[in-house]
Amino acid sequence: MKFLRWFVFSSAFVLALSAVAASLQTPVDLRTEYAVNPLGLEARAPRLSWKLQSQQRGARQSAYQILVASSVDQLRRGQANLWDSGQVKSDQSIQVPYRGTALASRQSCAWAVRVWDADGQPTAYSEPATWEMGLLEATDWTAGWIGWPAGWIGRALYFRCDFDVKAGVKAARVYVAGVGYHDLHLNGAKVGDHVLEPGYTDYAKRVLYATHDVTAGLRAGKNTVAAVVGNGWYGMAKLLLQLEVTYADGTRETIATNGARPGGNERWRVTNGPIVMNSVFDGETYDARLEKPAWDQPGGDARQSNLDRSALWLNCMPVEPPGGRLVSQTSEPIKVVDTLACVGVVEPKPGVFVFDTGQNLAGWAELRVAGPRATQVSLRFAESLYPDGTVNQENLRAAAATDTYILKGEGRETWQPRFTYHGFRYVQLEGFPGKPALDTLAIKRVRSAVAPNGTFECSNDLLNRIQRMIWQTEGSNLHSVPTDCPQRNERMGWMNDLTVRLEESLYNFDLARFYTKFLNDVTDTQAADGSITDTAPFKWGKRPADPVSASYLLMGWFLYQYYGDTSAMAAHYNGFKGWVDFVAGQAVDHIVPYGSWGDWSPPASESVAGSAGAGAIAKSTPLPLMSTGYLYYTADLLAKMAGVLGKADDARRYAELAGKVREAFNRKYWNEAVGGYGSNNQACNAFALFLGVVAEKNVPRVVASLVADVEKRGGHLSTGNLCTKYLMETLTNHGRADVAYRIATQETYPSWGFMLANGATTLWERWEHLTKGGMNSHNHPMMGSVSSWFYKDLAGIQSDPAVPGFKRIVIRPRVVDGLSWVRASYTSMYGVIRSDWRKENGAFTLKVSVPVNSSAAVHLGGALGGTITEGGKPVVIAHRADGARSIELGSGDYELVAR
Ligand code: BGC
Repeated sequence: MKFLRWFVFSSAFVLALSAVAASLQTPVDLRTEYAVNPLGLEARAPRLSWKLQSQQRGARQSAYQILVASSVDQLRRGQANLWDSGQVKSDQSIQVPYRGTALASRQSCAWAVRVWDADGQPTAYSEPATWEMGLLEATDWTAGWIGWPAGWIGRALYFRCDFDVKAGVKAARVYVAGVGYHDLHLNGAKVGDHVLEPGYTDYAKRVLYATHDVTAGLRAGKNTVAAVVGNGWYGMAKLLLQLEVTYADGTRETIATNGARPGGNERWRVTNGPIVMNSVFDGETYDARLEKPAWDQPGGDARQSNLDRSALWLNCMPVEPPGGRLVSQTSEPIKVVDTLACVGVVEPKPGVFVFDTGQNLAGWAELRVAGPRATQVSLRFAESLYPDGTVNQENLRAAAATDTYILKGEGRETWQPRFTYHGFRYVQLEGFPGKPALDTLAIKRVRSAVAPNGTFECSNDLLNRIQRMIWQTEGSNLHSVPTDCPQRNERMGWMNDLTVRLEESLYNFDLARFYTKFLNDVTDTQAADGSITDTAPFKWGKRPADPVSASYLLMGWFLYQYYGDTSAMAAHYNGFKGWVDFVAGQAVDHIVPYGSWGDWSPPASESVAGSAGAGAIAKSTPLPLMSTGYLYYTADLLAKMAGVLGKADDARRYAELAGKVREAFNRKYWNEAVGGYGSNNQACNAFALFLGVVAEKNVPRVVASLVADVEKRGGHLSTGNLCTKYLMETLTNHGRADVAYRIATQETYPSWGFMLANGATTLWERWEHLTKGGMNSHNHPMMGSVSSWFYKDLAGIQSDPAVPGFKRIVIRPRVVDGLSWVRASYTSMYGVIRSDWRKENGAFTLKVSVPVNSSAAVHLGGALGGTITEGGKPVVIAHRADGARSIELGSGDYELVAR
């Protein structure tokens, strides 16, 4: 039935619907490929998701119907001309693939969904959502790359093009790829709020283009499209832009770089301008005297800078394309996500002013200044100070991290850089005319605009401060790739760090699209022999990557576990297999004999060089032990993925490989005499336990070794970036959450509390407090895996691996002695999950929220022995086949009390 009398699109229709008495409310928060009303999709079968709400407990969907039309109007009129799914009996409310008419480039789609509850009662149709397809075929591009290879090296390029538009514009889109970074302007205004665009890729393989709706910015008559393009990660400025204007009569005109409309007379012009130096690492220099008034407005090319008359608008040249395939940027753009005021400013030397932002972060400062023309103000960014109060930039290595602004001298001037970013807490201002005020600088926090996804709080404020520190660190290192650090001359997507960072980041931010993008970056590094590289895009480290880079497969696996996403796993399956085969091919008798970094950066006394400044390779955690363990881990993951994807032969083959590696690992590294693995240190034992390769009978001995070592160190860890995660998790999973808690709550070296006690607001790269150069970042997420332990274990929010995407939630809080309450939430694709427990007056209370259309199994450990009530009534405890006991909950809010 296509006649939509039950639509809720306008209040006029509301009446017709209200008679429905379904336990479910109208679906909300419609997403297409994870995004709200995206443009530029390239997925041929976009995946649709919605959220459900209900006043009742245990509410779930029994069927859905999706309608897709080529416009909202058509959808409103009930013409689902692209797809009417009909009633589909299914409880699937996320990742439902579009199965309608094949979608062509630029196709607009509007969709709505209704669902049936468990009793077969339908809801009304949702409000419509939309998506639009991008440019799917190479032939859709008439634009060519333009630039100015004839000089001005290091300066940003300013491009512009005048064009006429007739009356009757229905829609207009700009598809733009300006590398390294670009800023798009239309008729004198910046288009949108993206910065540092496009996302960083290997431009020889893949260049991202952004899609903007510019319908509202066009006017009948004369228009100007313009762009400033900087070096970014590409190193020089090149622009490709295609502006498509669709008129009400259905005709389309295209204004394209290096191409003219038939009969059109557009000319692309280029010049230099006030951005005289721009570099991701070094900063930006802006000479405001070189501004060209109205440069991005019709007629603006006739007016030149009042200083530099030689900088004329010249005809652009066609330039060599970067080489990569043009791919739509569908992950979140980088944006200024927050503006902060500084917390203090001091003058350690005459004329030298040091601003304190109060926290380490990634971004830049906006300068407000008034003074004589040609005054030069510099801003130097740093994470720490010298004892004399001036900024210490030693640990930024070769990154100059300095912005310079030269005043035009025309009253109050406000400026922020465009094509650089810094990792900093302090900003040193020099050359400022007069005395700056606190609000001379406004601090801009800049990152991929991914949504925060989790909250965690507990009764021990130290853990809350650790959680904030980790959140800040992760949030400083999401810049279209998961960077290792935001400040020094590095900022690379390190695969080894990511192996343990993934879960922490997924609990704290919604990274479905971010990792979908980054997976492509990693696969782009893959060579014919299956090897991937240490960093993606590959600029740093080695090929082949250290075998600890399980992050490659884990991204696919966790997209499945956290978002119920099988597409990423399927798309990269061959890549994963290539990597596992490559590492397996390096093995001798199933032992991988090499590694590069292993359990990197343990406490200085545990590392090879013995001193903090130099080597960070763990001296007692053999590299081959780590590499072999990871071969087992990835072979096992691949077998699981093959199982999910229905590749039975591979599932068997890689399970067998995993089995052989496991045997070899035990043969080589199990030490019967001491009851531990390798050197019997924390890292080796925790890793073996985490992998699950320890023979059942040996588990208690290994756990005992682990606990003994922690005790011997007064409750401290001795692990590096990777095994710290496994230490916390295995202690917890083997009944020693108390020991893990003791490690987490240390304030003496080495610990997270020690970082805080020494003034850290973001995580350090080393456990030591270092102030010099070398390998010494103060904003390094790799040590932050303890945050996922907060969510997964202290709050106990997990997804059931067998029913992924948090369709079935496991709530298993580890109730440790030192804590009297924990309160956490995680926003899943079904809605917000909450776990909130408290010990009080001999009772244990757990409040749980389970989103509609999902369910939860609550494990209360020891408390299950006592009486458990919910709303005053005893609850049923399920005895499961595996011997575990749990309370099974449908959706809703619950308050369980155990006494
Ligand atoms: C990066 C680390 C990485 C390491 C591996 C460093 O330069 O900052 O995050 O783990 O290299 O060698």
